[in-house]
Amino acid sequence: MKILFVGDIVGSPGRDTLKEYLPKLKKKYQPHFTIVNGENAAHGKGLTEKIYHELLQAGADVLTMGNHTWDKRDIFDFIDDAANMVRPANFPEGTPGKGLTFIKKQGKELAVINLQGRTFLPPIDCPFQKVDELIAEASKRTPFIFIDFHAEATSEKQAMGWYTDGRASCVVGTHTHVQTADNRVLPKGTAYISDVGMTGPYDGILGVDRETIIKRFKTSLPVRFEIAEGRTTLSAVIVEIDEQSKKAVKIDRILINDDHIFFE
Ligand SMILES: [Fe+2]
Repeated sequence: MKILFVGDIVGSPGRDTLKEYLPKLKKKYQPHFTIVNGENAAHGKGLTEKIYHELLQAGADVLTMGNHTWDKRDIFDFIDDAANMVRPANFPEGTPGKGLTFIKKQGKELAVINLQGRTFLPPIDCPFQKVDELIAEASKRTPFIFIDFHAEATSEKQAMGWYTDGRASCVVGTHTHVQTADNRVLPKGTAYISDVGMTGPYDGILGVDRETIIKRFKTSLPVRFEIAEGRTTLSAVIVEIDEQSKKAVKIDRILINDDHIFFE
């Protein structure tokens, strides 16, 4: 089983880059499932119903979210009906939406879980206690479990990888927008990477216009974040799981930009 995961789509440059490359990536890697982080897809913060459908139309099977889930008011109108979307599961009980979903394709079923970290992020329920609950629930239906852990600290992300090693098929980190080079298969068979990286403007700072960010660092004055313009990048991983042993066997990084040329 192969899973393609594309990291944080930032604004319209990210959406356009996804639309340009996803068909080529699918042709090259032949994934059974495609998962995309959409929490920055609507002008860098949140997701609208229109963009939710746009990303599914572009070829995503499921969207994962993060700390910007609630930034567009529109989300409350559709999240409870959005079958192909997960938001961090460790929001308190009663929060709209869901943190675990199942996708079935070609006779294969994959559980997709979204969790959010607690280090350098707003307070939220414990992702480690929540993941135990969700893995137990997901395992009743399928041994194939994918986790997007949306978190800031590499230590917290590594802890989640090791904590779920042998219980989840794959744990990918998102949120920091910079792809890390630590992709590996952990000893008990969980594919892991601390951060997949972002998809969107290549010459901004984490996708945001660099002048405004530099100004904020120099002056500490509040600034309005604008999405950067110009060249773009795409960050993803392709994960391979052995269906007999149920263990991941491979996780490769994908990075496409002017410094990392894509070969079809
Ligand atoms: Fe985030």
